[in-house]
Amino acid sequence: MSGLALVTGADGYLGLHTAQRLLTDTDDRLVLTVRAADRAELDAKRSQLASVLDARKERVEVVPADLTEDAPLCAVTRTVTAIVHAAARTAFNQSRDDARRINVEGTARVAEYAVSCPALDRFVLMSTLVSAGCRTGEVRETMLAGDAGFANHYEWSKSEAELLLAERFPELPLTVARLSTIVADDDHGHVTQYNAFHNTLKLFFYGLITVMPGLPDTRLYLATAAATSGALVHLAQPDTPTGVYHLAPAPHEAISLREAIDTAFDVFATDASFARRRLLRPEFCDQETFRHLVAATETLSASPAAGALRSVASFAEQLFHPKQFVNTRLVQTWPGATAFANRALVHAVCQSLVQSRWGRKPGDRPHASLAS
Ligand SMILES: NC(=O)c1ccc[n+]([C@@H]2O[C@H](COP(=O)([O-])OP(=O)(O)OC[C@H]3O[C@@H](n4cnc5c(N)ncnc54)[C@H](OP(=O)(O)O)[C@@H]3O)[C@@H](O)[C@H]2O)c1
Repeated sequence: MSGLALVTGADGYLGLHTAQRLLTDTDDRLVLTVRAADRAELDAKRSQLASVLDARKERVEVVPADLTEDAPLCAVTRTVTAIVHAAARTAFNQSRDDARRINVEGTARVAEYAVSCPALDRFVLMSTLVSAGCRTGEVRETMLAGDAGFANHYEWSKSEAELLLAERFPELPLTVARLSTIVADDDHGHVTQYNAFHNTLKLFFYGLITVMPGLPDTRLYLATAAATSGALVHLAQPDTPTGVYHLAPAPHEAISLREAIDTAFDVFATDASFARRRLLRPEFCDQETFRHLVAATETLSASPAAGALRSVASFAEQLFHPKQFVNTRLVQTWPGATAFANRALVHAVCQSLVQSRWGRKPGDRPHASLAS
């Protein structure tokens, strides 16, 4: 039976992938919420979404909602059967106030709307594996106390949002989907959303950094938007059990930091201009050395090396806190879970980054997301 699914942040990278997947994999009609400052921006976002969704746009309504405003969804129909909450501020270096306003209080506002929808079967929160913060060791698919400390305010805010939904809205049919870091659209390794993973590889390719912070055996939980959106749509179905899921490879299927660096340099070496530069593979450095290095380059704020180190520092902390994310619940419910194994993916991503020079070469496909 078809339903009515609401996706927040629907013009963001994963919101759009998930909306497209809902249209492909289900017969649901969709309400897509976007943030728009005025009528002109709303019209522009509507026509962009209509052109991306093409023939399937008939099943879609696009509505404005800024989650920092009071009752942002008050004008939206209460007949929705599923909500996928993607909207968030995702920068690692955002302030605690911004993170609270958008990711925590914004989530509470979506939940307040959700509890007023009598036919709601599923509320899927797009969260992140790093809501586990700085804890180490095995992490299970259960609610976690937010007491392990966090590398940045983004991590903290996603943990707070999970806890807030579970504690303040016990009546919600809640699924917390903890996502891996998305490094490509699909298994071909094509990249349209760039993040710290791609930027760090770029710094190595151009010889701007020569050290790698982190423990070499730390597992990297990386995934594609295709695998992630497929799993999210499955989790949004009424017959999929609610609860916490890790949309991630099992630890033995996740590439280690050392393997990822080796893979990248093997791929880089096939590029003639890189080979000519004769750059060495980076040395791993410990947490204290890396902190000293970042502090020392702070005085050189305009230099490329300082900027490079700062961008790595925003996520490096996690590389000193190795975790084994258990994905048993996902494997039990979703046959597509095998798509999260990521060694071949890292190879494909490195190839695509080198070929496209990190998206700068002409002929690269346009951004799949409407977000800038
Ligand atoms: N991508 C990843 O690697 C990854 C990994 C783990 C978890 N996640 C989670 O997945 C979700 C989607 O991430 P993404 O990569 O798709 O992020 P994204 O591309 O930055 O999209 C975020 C969306 O949220 C919207 N938004 C931001 N502030 C808003 C507000 N005040 N009111 C309403 N909408 C607002 C943005 O609209 P504007 O463009 O107008 O700001 C955008 O549409 C997030 O919850 C994120 O925490 C992502």
